[in-house]
Amino acid sequence: SRGGSSTSSTSSIALQSTATTSGEVIVVSTTPIPEMRPGTSGLRKKVEVWQGEHYVENFIQCLIDTAVEKNGGKMLDTIIVAGDGRYHNSEAIQTITQLLAANGVNNIWIPRNGIMSTPAVSAVIRRRTASGDGSDGQGVAQGGIVLTASHNPGGPGEDFGIKYNEGLGQPAGEDFTEALYEKTLSISSYKTVSNSPVVDLSAPIGTVYKIGSSSVTIIDPFQNYLDTLKECFDFNQLKEFGKKEGFKMLFDGMHGAGGIFAKRVLIDELGLPESSLMRCNPLPDFGKCHPDPNLTYASELVEKMGLLPDGSATTSVDVASLPTLGAANDGDGDRNLVAGAGFFVTPSDSMALICDNWASIPQFASRGGLKGVARSMPSSAALDVVASARNIPCFITPTGWKFFGNLMSSKEMFDGKDYTPFLCGEESFGTGSDHVREKDGLWAVLAWMSILAKANESVENGATLVGVKEIVEKHWATYGRHFYCRYDYEGVDSNDANKVMEFIRENYVNGDTASIKTESDIKLADAIEFSYTDPVDGSKTSKQGLILNFSLPSGDPARVVFRLSGTGSSGATIRMYLEQYEKDASKHGMSAPVALKELAEEALRLVKMEETTGRDSPTVIT
Ligand code: G6P
Ligand code: ZN
Repeated sequence: SRGGSSTSSTSSIALQSTATTSGEVIVVSTTPIPEMRPGTSGLRKKVEVWQGEHYVENFIQCLIDTAVEKNGGKMLDTIIVAGDGRYHNSEAIQTITQLLAANGVNNIWIPRNGIMSTPAVSAVIRRRTASGDGSDGQGVAQGGIVLTASHNPGGPGEDFGIKYNEGLGQPAGEDFTEALYEKTLSISSYKTVSNSPVVDLSAPIGTVYKIGSSSVTIIDPFQNYLDTLKECFDFNQLKEFGKKEGFKMLFDGMHGAGGIFAKRVLIDELGLPESSLMRCNPLPDFGKCHPDPNLTYASELVEKMGLLPDGSATTSVDVASLPTLGAANDGDGDRNLVAGAGFFVTPSDSMALICDNWASIPQFASRGGLKGVARSMPSSAALDVVASARNIPCFITPTGWKFFGNLMSSKEMFDGKDYTPFLCGEESFGTGSDHVREKDGLWAVLAWMSILAKANESVENGATLVGVKEIVEKHWATYGRHFYCRYDYEGVDSNDANKVMEFIRENYVNGDTASIKTESDIKLADAIEFSYTDPVDGSKTSKQGLILNFSLPSGDPARVVFRLSGTGSSGATIRMYLEQYEKDASKHGMSAPVALKELAEEALRLVKMEETTGRDSPTVIT
């Protein structure tokens, strides 16, 4: 059997089956548990909820049943189970493994120590072959169960989550998650095994456990992902650039899964010094930090990059002493924050810059450049401007990575066009491409390192390096700047949050905007509610955000988007996205919150934020 002879191409210890205890399949009665509907990215709940009786079991049985249904009634053959290392990771892996085995999944892959970043899981699904080396690039796993609540805090009292990725490595679509949810409402039993051996997650790569008739294999977390990145970037070039005088990198793993991958790539492969890493050891509670790489929660890195919490530069710091490139990843390593010395790059700008500089990135350059780009609706139009200037088709999707997956995999399906090589991203600190079907924090870091390497190609050793700031400012001078900022109102009462949305819908989207008076010379032009028809599968998604379009005295456009977060585990989070275009380069130096202050105040007044929610300020500004 495949699993039984599994070995690893990189590990020097290629073990055969070591433990062979088998469990007996048992059927356990259960009853439906309410509120198991997955959100934007899987089901997220407080860890204590997951620890409740039958909770993980119910959800996983329904997940398996849904996957089988989608597989034409056939049981899945190969599944990977991995998590971001948060509290309850190892326990859940054991439970899930037992359910998979009892249901008859032949091969179950678990990364050594149970920890993988989300993009690395996607790479395994796409590439790992039965022999483990992935040399023909044809993955055999039909899916992956990813244990993560992404950027939400972990530990007792905090969040745990489970999501499912399908055969191309992409997050399951809404049809899948809705079908799963339906099943959770009527489940009456699940299958598991009695007397199952406990899988030692720290066992050497290649160790195989037999549970029932299934093989559980401990696999190398890094290999397939590393192979993928090596196809995207020129590791030799990056290694050389890393040695260049004056270059310094600082990577903040926020104690999430991304840290071990950063260490493997930046230190072991690219030869950067260990001092380039901070918080790269995964911890079950992320060291009590909120592992979301934004200006508020990555405050330590932000400060070390010579930045204030509002993204502007600290005036007292000598820029030359700061790292050239600073970056942070979230809990599961798919989000990224990028900064230069004393300079914060907004995620929307980051996408636009990567698009404009595709020639610096071998993955795109070697395939004739970008053929398509996409951004989520609330992200700024910075990408659109570049795409239009460079004649690249640009798609605007609802929030959620799954929408990009469809576009990237469209190939023959969509007008006979193949939109790969493809770049996509979201304002929520997600950037990625067609190399996997998830956003990828480390990929974004290497993309920026590649841009820097190219920009400094002819800079003599010892001379001052061209920095992130110069590169972005030059970009703005060419394309104009999209001032951008997001206000989050976290933990708002759900009724109040819905009231705010309903008020906007009633009064502005369905109301007569022409009669609305603003208090400044920023005028409300119109209001719409965003909905989307997927060009690939025709599926429709509605209520994806309320957009207030404004006109500025300069004639430049501005807009404010309101949306409820789909990733929280309790209460509601109202997000307010502010965007204002400025062509005039003499005004590009302003800090974003300052440039957007008037627009923010106008929008908050119009939607009666304080009156309805009692909040006079946001919890997060980023
Ligand atoms: C997850 C998804 C992203 C999405 C984000 C939105 O991270 O993977 O694709 O942008 O959630 O989160 P929100 O809280 O705004 O719904
Ligand atoms: Zn994440």
